[in-house]
Amino acid sequence: MFTLLTLGLLAQATLTLALTNSNSTPPNYFYPNSTGLRLQHGLETLLIQPFGYDGFRVRAWPFRPPSGNEISFLYDPPLEGYTTVPSGNTYTTATTGTTSQALRNGNLILRTTGWGGEPGGYRLSFSRINPNGSETLLTNEYAPLKSLNPRSYQYPGPGAEFSAEFSFSATPDEQIYGTGTQQDHMVNKKGQVIDLINFNTHIPTPVVVSSKGYAFIWNMPGEGRMEFGPLRTRFTAKTTTLVDYVVVAAPEEGDYDTLQQRISALTGRAPTPPDWALGYIQSKLRYENQTEVELLARAFHEREIPVAMIVIDYQSWAAQGNWALDPRLWPDPAAMSAVVRNLTGAEMMASLWPSVADNSDNYAALQANGLLSATRDGPGTTDSWNGSYIRNYDSTNPAARVFLWEMLRENYYENGIKNFWIDQADGGALGEAYENNGQSTYIESVPFALPNVLYAAGTQLGVGKLYPWAHQQAIEEGVRNVTGTEEGSACEYVSLSRSGFIGSQRFCSVIWSGDTTSVWETLGVQVASGLSAAATGWGWWTVDAGGFQADPTVWWSGNIDTAEFRQLYVRWLQWTTFLPFMRTHGSRACYVQSAYTCANEPWSYGEENTPIIVGYIHLRYRLGRYLKAVFNQFHLTGRSIMRPLYMDFGKTDPKIAGLTAANSNFTTQQYLFGPRLLVSPVTLPNVTEWPVYLPLTGGNDTKPWTYWWTNVTYAGGQVVKVPAPVEHIPVFHLGSREALLSGDVF
Ligand SMILES: *[C@@H]1O[C@H](CO)[C@@H](O)[C@H](O)[C@H]1NC(C)=O
Ligand SMILES: *[C@@H]1O[C@H](CO)[C@@H](O)[C@H](O)[C@H]1NC(C)=O
Ligand SMILES: *[C@@H]1O[C@H](CO)[C@@H](O)[C@H](O)[C@H]1NC(C)=O
Ligand SMILES: *[C@@H]1O[C@H](CO)[C@@H](O)[C@H](O)[C@H]1NC(C)=O
Ligand SMILES: *[C@@H]1O[C@H](CO)[C@@H](O)[C@H](O)[C@H]1NC(C)=O
Ligand SMILES: *[C@@H]1O[C@H](CO)[C@@H](O)[C@H](O)[C@H]1NC(C)=O
Ligand SMILES: *[C@@H]1O[C@H](CO)[C@@H](O)[C@H](O)[C@H]1NC(C)=O
Ligand SMILES: *[C@@H]1O[C@H](CO)[C@@H](O)[C@H](O)[C@H]1NC(C)=O
Ligand SMILES: *[C@@H]1O[C@H](CO)[C@@H](O)[C@H](O)[C@H]1NC(C)=O
Ligand SMILES: *[C@@H]1O[C@H](CO)[C@@H](O)[C@H](O)[C@H]1NC(C)=O
Repeated sequence: MFTLLTLGLLAQATLTLALTNSNSTPPNYFYPNSTGLRLQHGLETLLIQPFGYDGFRVRAWPFRPPSGNEISFLYDPPLEGYTTVPSGNTYTTATTGTTSQALRNGNLILRTTGWGGEPGGYRLSFSRINPNGSETLLTNEYAPLKSLNPRSYQYPGPGAEFSAEFSFSATPDEQIYGTGTQQDHMVNKKGQVIDLINFNTHIPTPVVVSSKGYAFIWNMPGEGRMEFGPLRTRFTAKTTTLVDYVVVAAPEEGDYDTLQQRISALTGRAPTPPDWALGYIQSKLRYENQTEVELLARAFHEREIPVAMIVIDYQSWAAQGNWALDPRLWPDPAAMSAVVRNLTGAEMMASLWPSVADNSDNYAALQANGLLSATRDGPGTTDSWNGSYIRNYDSTNPAARVFLWEMLRENYYENGIKNFWIDQADGGALGEAYENNGQSTYIESVPFALPNVLYAAGTQLGVGKLYPWAHQQAIEEGVRNVTGTEEGSACEYVSLSRSGFIGSQRFCSVIWSGDTTSVWETLGVQVASGLSAAATGWGWWTVDAGGFQADPTVWWSGNIDTAEFRQLYVRWLQWTTFLPFMRTHGSRACYVQSAYTCANEPWSYGEENTPIIVGYIHLRYRLGRYLKAVFNQFHLTGRSIMRPLYMDFGKTDPKIAGLTAANSNFTTQQYLFGPRLLVSPVTLPNVTEWPVYLPLTGGNDTKPWTYWWTNVTYAGGQVVKVPAPVEHIPVFHLGSREALLSGDVF
């Protein structure tokens, strides 16, 4: 991950371009005609190199060259395509920007021009050669006459770090996808302003996909901002020593599968998940002790309901940062996991928090070895929770990752609990705006972003977006080390993470949408969040079925003994059947309490709903072969699992562009799940029928869409209202159901 660039020693090199994976070279590929262009533009330097297929990587810095320790999230060399070897400092052409230059890699052309109409070669533009030979300008640096330079730098602090703003031209009709996840009900992010700061349920990530058929990857770990105006797209880095980005194109507009293949060859290709993980995952806040978990497993066994994994939530430790179960509540974890496996075949997962309290068994050792994050001006605490001040372990420090893993290995893994829930992983503080021990009654949140934490790798402002990524990496490296397997090979475990960053899909790690509220509006918003995750490259995604916590202003929210919440729960749970991972979780309320906390099992929602919930769990297992095929394709080529409608129907259905542009519910709450299933979850109460927009498929079949529950077939290009009683989620399939269930779909 830390690429040694030695950019300081920029000497003109004659190293050649190498192909990193010849198997996938597209036919008639235009071999890059340069190893790079070094542009000395007065006070600043740019190095532009072909990268992957149809891509260019740009690195820019004012005055002093970068240290060489800058953090990158790109495979270097890429998994597929061309790169210079080593990619660090090679270039064919050096210029001061007085003349226009052009480089070509595949169908992407990088040109340098003057700012406006005048001659010169310091403004970058990216164009694609279309299949018919015509050329389309994808974007160029945004430079209206006599305005701020599109690459601008400032030195706000005392050190060598600068802040940077880079602006690119956009058109009002361009659509913007990806960008990580927010809670904004937008698949098309045009017009949106997104802070590159992590919070619980917000994982802003600068992998930006354009409807013009290219992607932009802002390959930097710091905080900042993304702005998608009608004429200008702007990226801001709060503090850095290098600006590093990639533009990569699809061969033509609308080819999202190739574009995702290109992106994932640079950022991350997912391994395949273990088969069991595709089943039903049982969780609640919280199973409190060993007896409760064993009784739970017995209940699944007696009811003959399949369960893939049982999850132990937080507060299962004696102190934050022990990274061990509290022996008073969990006297024999190995026996427990054996009983669970024996009765149900299920795996176990346990939550870990990154936070270390002063009374933790590990505090002194971590502090003595410099493995905790601190605040900018000293060793200060970074947050507090439930009466304890805490410091987060420093995931950016490799030695801290080893320390954490040793605890997890000894206390969980070797006791048969082999899957890890990376909760509160957002970095900086504990993922919420800072509040001290319930003072939110008086102070809703302090008016600062996150504490300016100091890590081994830098500051929160400078490298904070690395934190969750490196935390996922800690678990990945740990399990890979004990199992003797390589990153990228089939996963034997999964982690579940509340955050992530560019390329997180390379780990055996599921991202979930965070601590959502148990109301209908929140259910609706999650769908768009998942579709943005997909475009960002995160195929492994899920939610808390039912939402995580009650909305205090809604009397029934989260209460399992109310008809209102039961209905919401059934709708939410049935949707998770058609998500990459099927998982329930949440903090529940109840009138009848049978355990330490209220129940959240398949049989907890009333006699009339139990068969519906169990029916969806069985359906999930019937989809097993289909799921495996879909995950395998994601592994091989990065082909998205959850598929926003623009991915498959933008070219065959002229209405899709407009519906997506407007973020119509037909595009923010509908998607294709794998290649054959159209899913449109019900997101309103008391519904008996549901409108669905069925896209034109471009195939020969006049009625290609079959409604799952009735087998009635429908033509595309129309809104249909289908019966949607509470037991039926609107789902349509393409092709025969037999082919789908057999997994024979690619
Ligand atoms: C690379 O190809 C482009 C497009 O054909 C051409 O304009 C440019 O001059 C070439 N550059 C070099 C360095 O050969
Ligand atoms: C060539 O392809 C581009 C992009 O698809 C399209 O806009 C243009 O109209 C086409 N030109 C011709 C002459 O077909
Ligand atoms: C697992 O089940 C078998 C028989 O079904 C029993 O002999 C064995 O003791 C059980 N093991 C545990 C750890 O419960
Ligand atoms: C706070 O910690 C105490 C133990 O010190 C525990 O009993 C209590 O449940 C915790 N509160 C929450 C909200 O978890
Ligand atoms: C895993 O093993 C590698 C190679 O020995 C080592 O560098 C790394 O620190 C280990 N990671 C963990 C989390 O144990
Ligand atoms: C879109 O769905 C949301 C629920 O997620 C709902 O509140 C809203 O009314 C819907 N909009 C339209 C136009 O149907
Ligand atoms: C374990 O949890 C169950 C269910 O909440 C409770 O009845 C029991 O008393 C607890 N046992 C211990 C040892 O805490
Ligand atoms: C749903 O139906 C129930 C019972 O028929 C009713 O009490 C409730 O007000 C309805 N909810 C909404 C949001 O219409
Ligand atoms: C439509 O049918 C024709 C003739 O049967 C066939 O050649 C063509 O490939 C079909 N197109 C699609 C998209 O299935
Ligand atoms: C729909 O067709 C499938 C076979 O493709 C069949 O298993 C199912 O029972 C049918 N459903 C109805 C309601 O006819």
